[in-house]
Amino acid sequence: MNKPILISGIQPTGKLHLGNYLGVLKNFVELQNSDKYQCYFFIADYHSLTEDFNTKEKSKQILDLIADYLAAGIDPKKSVIFIQSAVPAHVELAVILNNFTPFGELRRMTQFKEKSQENPFNINAGLFDYPVLMAADILLYDAQFVPVGEDQLQHLELTRTLARKFNSKFGKTFIEPKPLLTKAPRLMSLDDPMKKMSKSQTAGCLFIDDKPLMIKEKIKKAVTDSGKEIRYDPQIKPALSNLILIFSALSNYSIKAVERRFKNKGYAEFKKELAEIIIKTLVPFQKKKKKLKKQTSFIKKIISQGNKKANGVSSKKLLQIKEKIGLKI
Ligand code: TYM
Repeated sequence: MNKPILISGIQPTGKLHLGNYLGVLKNFVELQNSDKYQCYFFIADYHSLTEDFNTKEKSKQILDLIADYLAAGIDPKKSVIFIQSAVPAHVELAVILNNFTPFGELRRMTQFKEKSQENPFNINAGLFDYPVLMAADILLYDAQFVPVGEDQLQHLELTRTLARKFNSKFGKTFIEPKPLLTKAPRLMSLDDPMKKMSKSQTAGCLFIDDKPLMIKEKIKKAVTDSGKEIRYDPQIKPALSNLILIFSALSNYSIKAVERRFKNKGYAEFKKELAEIIIKTLVPFQKKKKKLKKQTSFIKKIISQGNKKANGVSSKKLLQIKEKIGLKI
């Protein structure tokens, strides 16, 4: 029997942070290694054009993100790795889906509202239409599962709505995909536990490329709550709970086990060990990444194979879709 299909992507917009890592990237690798799915992981480069960008930087960011994928453990022998802009069916399906997407649905999207506020001088049509391209990314592959962070759930809900709408109009064509979340689906900023960790919030953002000294410093500076006890309580101790969550996600200690380990110990000791655990995960990753970044021809080969595979699967699906809506004579 064929394994269910799983797909996800990340935008190449600069360095990934610990939220991206614990929310999705680490999970991509675990899901791949579970051998339960046919996995597709792509670079959402068209999506990344919705924010201001620098042409020279863009191709570097794409290569860097591929190196992130590979260094984290995505294995091109097990998973298809490809670039969105090298697979034209994505935009073609987005153009088709646009006609079934009410304007009002897009206008109420939280990410659109937030990004419009952050960048009032660049509220472009691409940003508005972002969720439709995302739906196309997913529906083209008949994906049943999509590992994402919590901030993408609304987009996934729209994907499901579009799939349902299309199916009821033209007959069963698409699968309604389900999200897969980790135990850290919304990692919070280190300097403000009420805000999501995000690269636009630099002060509270720990990047996966940060060097040990920087990691130690950022964890030392991370805000904590009043009281001394190391106790997980997101309502009363939101900042500490975020740190405990990081500890648990990186060490495979349960939350309870973290609390037990630091019973009668203070914040300083907890933070010291937390920094060590982060360093222990990130340093080997950074070493692998550094090596990979020198192997551009190897990376290009992997990508060209991945693009070919993705083009094969998606172009076939696009033909079926076009037939359904009468675009083929
Ligand atoms: P992007 O690049 O903005 O984010 C990549 C993934 O990281 C998750 N994430 C977080 N998870 C936990 N805590 C955080 N603080 C945090 N910040 C970000 C995001 O939820 C995301 O899953 N729209 C997607 C890219 C995309 C996509 C797709 C994903 C385009 N097409 C199709 C899945 C399927 C995005 O936000 O990427």
